[in-house]
Amino acid sequence: MRIISPDDMHHHFRDGDCLQHTVAHAARSFRRVLAMPNLVPPVTTTKDALEYRDRILAQVPEDVPENSFTPLMTLYMTDMTSAEEIHKAKASGHVYAVKLYPAGATTNSSFGVTDYEKIAPALAAMEEAGLLLLIHGESTDQSVDIFSREQSFYETVMPMIISRYPKLRIVCEHITSAFAAAFVEAQGPNVAATITAHHLLLNRNAIFKGGINPHYYCLPILKTEPDRLKLLQCATSDSTKFFLGTDSAPHSVSKKENCCGCAGVFTGHAAVEFVAEAFEAFGRLDKLEDFVSRRGAIFYGLPVSDTHRTLERTSWTVPVSYPFGSEVVRPLRAGEQMSWQMQPADGEGFCGSCAVSDMTPEKLKKLDQEAKAAGYASSAATK
Ligand code: DOR
Ligand code: ZN
Repeated sequence: MRIISPDDMHHHFRDGDCLQHTVAHAARSFRRVLAMPNLVPPVTTTKDALEYRDRILAQVPEDVPENSFTPLMTLYMTDMTSAEEIHKAKASGHVYAVKLYPAGATTNSSFGVTDYEKIAPALAAMEEAGLLLLIHGESTDQSVDIFSREQSFYETVMPMIISRYPKLRIVCEHITSAFAAAFVEAQGPNVAATITAHHLLLNRNAIFKGGINPHYYCLPILKTEPDRLKLLQCATSDSTKFFLGTDSAPHSVSKKENCCGCAGVFTGHAAVEFVAEAFEAFGRLDKLEDFVSRRGAIFYGLPVSDTHRTLERTSWTVPVSYPFGSEVVRPLRAGEQMSWQMQPADGEGFCGSCAVSDMTPEKLKKLDQEAKAAGYASSAATK
């Protein structure tokens, strides 16, 4: 199947020695990728964002055709983000949006927003400059049930922001519940939402199937089957409000398979394939291109790509781990079968595991054996 080159409007590349791997995976499938700013320390200034952009571009594999992969940059909103910084970001031509993490809501959000009054000047400047506001919509009140934190935010904070800044273009990031989906449907054309591949494929039973499965733990947490079906219905509808933001969020295996594992699902190795599978099972493969390649670009005011990629129906096994800097990451569907595969833009093979790695073959083999011992079905990590 030939589709317009997809865009991912929410992606965690991370930084440092794992960039070589995350960028290679992303470039295999996407034309443009919006880079999340929750690094340590976070990307709070235009200067930080432009430097991060250079580090990402430096890791685009050589066999990726010239100009066929573009990172779109974001800033991390803090209580101190100034109107001046917003205008600087807009003028850079490379920063498209500002991400609002309520402080304490998720990974590396401790520098996030604690007081919505303090960010009023920045939000007003964004409204004026035309920078998008991306919101992680979850209550930070730890007494609220974890499965209800999204709904709680959409009942309280989200309506307040939308009504106070009516011209601000807002993306409700990675919506996971029927409640949030219906909320977005009811808003005007300046409010849209991203949906991840894993929330289209899985419900919360995945976290507990046969035991506790840390690789299915992400934030917002997976919800119920009716929630998943509502997301699928929105993603495959004619509404232009819903588009792909994978929230591919790699953490090393040691940080996931841990007594206090990090939140995040790594889908960057096969995100479009996962969406194709979910849409096909829902009988709406015809909507794939709209969701992964058209609507995100349109909402961001970007031209829809004029290049194409091929998504082939073929069976392949996901490696149990991929290199991730000097460690490894466990991909979604580790050791299991896939039914679709994106083909490289130019017909040459490149993939995350081909990128230069600090990982030694011995270390990879050992980690691979541990993964098999932990019950992953089959191994391809040392291929
Ligand atoms: O599961 C998640 N992981 N949700 C987020 O909001 C952040 C992300 C990360 O950066 O690991
Ligand atoms: Zn994210």
